[in-house]
Amino acid sequence: PSEDVLAKATTEVNLADIPPGGEHTVAWQGKPVFIVHRTPEQIKNAEASNGAIEPEPDSKRVKRPEWLVVVGVCTHLGCVPNRDPDGGWTCPCHGSMYDASGRVVRGPAPRNLDVPVYSFEGDGKLIIGKA
Ligand code: FES
Repeated sequence: PSEDVLAKATTEVNLADIPPGGEHTVAWQGKPVFIVHRTPEQIKNAEASNGAIEPEPDSKRVKRPEWLVVVGVCTHLGCVPNRDPDGGWTCPCHGSMYDASGRVVRGPAPRNLDVPVYSFEGDGKLIIGKA
């Protein structure tokens, strides 16, 4: 692939811009990606459950518990879910709900939000699209 294609294949995020409890949405390969700086309480809640419709432990969905990184595209028909005050999301299209781990807890969405390939560079930088 050419250099400009490779450049678009990754998105860099400065983690210092996202305070605990905050979320940033960035574009990666034409899709929104939600980056959430989870609070200790949100981590505790996410770890206490395995989700519902597609059970999966939180530990399989994050590399560092304080950072959740998920593709912000509803797995039903592709709308962008809205953030809820409790740390999850609700899809405006047909009401699917996702928890603070991005796992679907109410349909019609059939699957959890996708976790993109990503890596950390030190404590300050996240690179989406690079393993
Ligand atoms: Fe999200 Fe239908 S697209 S619930």
